[in-house]
Amino acid sequence: MEGDHGPAGGGDGDPGARRHAGEIDAAIQALRDGRLAILPTETVYGLAADAGNGGAVAALFAAKGRPRFNPLIAHVADAGAARRIADLDPRALRLAEAFWPGPLTLVAQVRDEAAVCALARAGLDTLAVRVPAHPLALAVLRAFGGPLVAPSANRSGRPSPTTLADAAAEVGEFAAAAIDGGACAVGLESTVVSLLDGPARLLRPGAVTRASIEALIGPLAEAQDDARRSPGRMTRHYAPDAPVRLDAAAPLAGEAFLAFGDAPAGPGVFNLSPGRDLSEAAANLFAFLRAADALAPAAIAVAAIPAHGLGEAINDRLRRAAGKVG
Ligand code: TXA
Ligand code: MG
Repeated sequence: MEGDHGPAGGGDGDPGARRHAGEIDAAIQALRDGRLAILPTETVYGLAADAGNGGAVAALFAAKGRPRFNPLIAHVADAGAARRIADLDPRALRLAEAFWPGPLTLVAQVRDEAAVCALARAGLDTLAVRVPAHPLALAVLRAFGGPLVAPSANRSGRPSPTTLADAAAEVGEFAAAAIDGGACAVGLESTVVSLLDGPARLLRPGAVTRASIEALIGPLAEAQDDARRSPGRMTRHYAPDAPVRLDAAAPLAGEAFLAFGDAPAGPGVFNLSPGRDLSEAAANLFAFLRAADALAPAAIAVAAIPAHGLGEAINDRLRRAAGKVG
């Protein structure tokens, strides 16, 4: 693997990474010691472990309370590193070229079975891989030199964290190090596309939209709900404690309300985007679900969100938060 294996120290000249040199070095040390580290990415915060270290990966599954049949995403510093661990076909390479670093995860045949251990892959012969677009995550990946698995830094089934404070509240007790990268710009997990034999499939919608992928590689087939091809779809996800009521015109008595567009302000009302901007709504979604939940409302009512573009990913997360999976 490439990378100088020395302390990161912001040696790549990125001013953000230099400012966080101490946190970065501590995270790299923790990961090398087989411990867990909370890392920022552009999508959501991740709880990272050395992908090749079975003990570290076992601790990661335990920390999240994650079922072991649900495989993890390997994070790497660049497309070259991704190609060494996964068999990226021409469609995958076209997507990688267009969207990496960025919020896109590609599922392909695994190539290097040791670099990402069998437990991390949930025993599958396929591998999910992505190059995150966050300078601090990239600084860690470059200096670490090998792939890191990093599921969202929440307890399994809960909303993903988009700030370090939210990540620490979920899994802080299990992490030996943490890096504060501020609020995540995207706010939803990466788009997951499977490129095995046969048609490309959209396993999880995200900020890289269906239309932008289809423009490059043609029509996407729907995910098949079989455990080998889309294991993560089998579980309930992103759920706050309060029940979630979708497509609400207004809150009922006792409900918190996630509004979108024109809405009267008031106690328990969180406006995802007063200007009806889907990127802004995505960035606010999980933080507002948490804030609404903290009021212990009878339910969290959520306004209808348009289905186009990033709206597909927002509505996917909302349906799962409401327990309406599939
Ligand atoms: O944006 C993200 O992807 C974040 C940040 C931290 O990078 N990570 C993330 O990881 O969302 P996680 O573990 O919460 O979600 C990984 C998803 C799951 O739905 C899992 O089932 C799917 O990727 N996945 C992983 N490996 C797979 C494989 N071999 N085949 C199909 N799906 C896979
Ligand atoms: Mg997750």
